[in-house]
Amino acid sequence: MSQTASERIRLSEFARTPYLNVLTYPVLDIKVARSRLEQLEELGVEEVVFEGRTKIGRLGLVGIGTVSVVVRGVIGGRVHAVKIRRADANRESMLEEYRLTEIANRIGVGAQAFAATRDFMVMQLVDGEDLEDHLRAIRGVGTRARVREILHLLLNQCRKLDLIDLDHGQLSDLRKHVIMAGDMPYIIDFESSSQRRAPKNVTTASQYLLIGGRCAPFVKRLLGIRNQGPILEALKAYKKDRSDGNYARLLKTIGILI
Ligand SMILES: Nc1ncnc2c1ncn2[C@@H]1O[C@H](COP(=O)(O)OP(=O)(O)O)[C@@H](O)[C@H]1O
Ligand SMILES: [Mg+2]
Repeated sequence: MSQTASERIRLSEFARTPYLNVLTYPVLDIKVARSRLEQLEELGVEEVVFEGRTKIGRLGLVGIGTVSVVVRGVIGGRVHAVKIRRADANRESMLEEYRLTEIANRIGVGAQAFAATRDFMVMQLVDGEDLEDHLRAIRGVGTRARVREILHLLLNQCRKLDLIDLDHGQLSDLRKHVIMAGDMPYIIDFESSSQRRAPKNVTTASQYLLIGGRCAPFVKRLLGIRNQGPILEALKAYKKDRSDGNYARLLKTIGILI
């Protein structure tokens, strides 16, 4: 079967094998499945589409995370991402993630969250690619400007989150938490987010992109940054005082502001 093979089922079929393996992943549980079908009905999910390179058995998915699996769901004829709470997840409900995602959405950050129940969250499906793959594929005239622009968009989103004191919590692994739709970065997965700790979005994302992350050496080369000293200094200052001035200083060290 090719990697793009797709299978579309009506909601009622979701509680049958092999689809049940996804609905109550990683354990089969008919009782849980029944309650979950009811929740999906409540959310207006009409069909489920199994498609994607990530698989459970032969069924393609949008993705698998530590606390959830994500599939495509059709609501009102439109395809959305449906995040399903894993049966072995160390959290009781999707509702807190939904609440936090909505807060991010209000400032224009994140894939848009539409609705949630205890075991599901329906959100905008971001059809795109890995940040690192995207950056590495940029070539030719204008490469530096495009990389700068992507970093600028991403850091501005982090800055907005910092300003409302919402810490994403997992931006140290940016690769898994940003999806590029064209040149537009989307931050996903607010399941570890919190409003109760000092926000570290700008510093953590910068650390990944420019200092210690897998693509940092490559990003620095593309941006023509030879000495990371000024970036480290700017990050230190920003950490102490998340002022507009210190944010601007950081952007200057990476050539985004002059
Ligand atoms: N809105 C979305 N659009 C497209 N892909 C998504 C979306 N949300 C999640 N994914 C994919 O599913 C994977 C798992 O989702 P994630 O939110 O990280 O789950 P978890 O909270 O379990 O860590 C992600 O790595 C990503 O590939
Ligand atoms: Mg995750």
